[in-house]
Amino acid sequence: MISSQRKIANGDVIIVYERHDTMKAIKVSEGSELQNRFGVFKHGDWIGKTYGSKVLSNKGGFIYLLAPTPELWTLVLSHRTQILYIADISFVVSFLEVVPGCVLLESGTGSGSLTTSLARAVSPTGHVYTFDFHEQRAASAR
Ligand SMILES: C[S@@+](CC[C@H](N)C(=O)[O-])C[C@H]1O[C@@H](n2cnc3c(N)ncnc32)[C@H](O)[C@@H]1O
Repeated sequence: MISSQRKIANGDVIIVYERHDTMKAIKVSEGSELQNRFGVFKHGDWIGKTYGSKVLSNKGGFIYLLAPTPELWTLVLSHRTQILYIADISFVVSFLEVVPGCVLLESGTGSGSLTTSLARAVSPTGHVYTFDFHEQRAASAR
């Protein structure tokens, strides 16, 4: 898991927050740009900033650079299947008493929404094995 104190590095996957209903996952790549209705944002300007930082575009527009928590990942992942949302994920994690150190086997990775929360719940010493018989979905989730 990425600590919110950590600085953004080239190659990190981050969540770009434009508005509460507009967020996307982006891989930081020095030399690349993000263009949206608020202007042009250079990835290079993000490197070295703390997660949670607000950054400005060439036009003075702004976005926030967030760490990819399981909750945010659930909201931005591309839906390849129906997915579990936070309310159900919370129930599953507490009902199964998933705690750090647990070793889990999940059958039916789907889009990986549940998987990321399971991985956080068992960290730092546990492990989640997840399986999907749909090869393409398994590859995308990976
Ligand atoms: C609704 S999706 C799971 C969504 C996932 N929990 C999430 O939150 O993103 C169900 C997945 O189970 C997989 N699946 C169904 N039957 C399976 C089986 N017998 N073995 C492995 N995967 C299976 C499907 O391919 C599909 O990707």
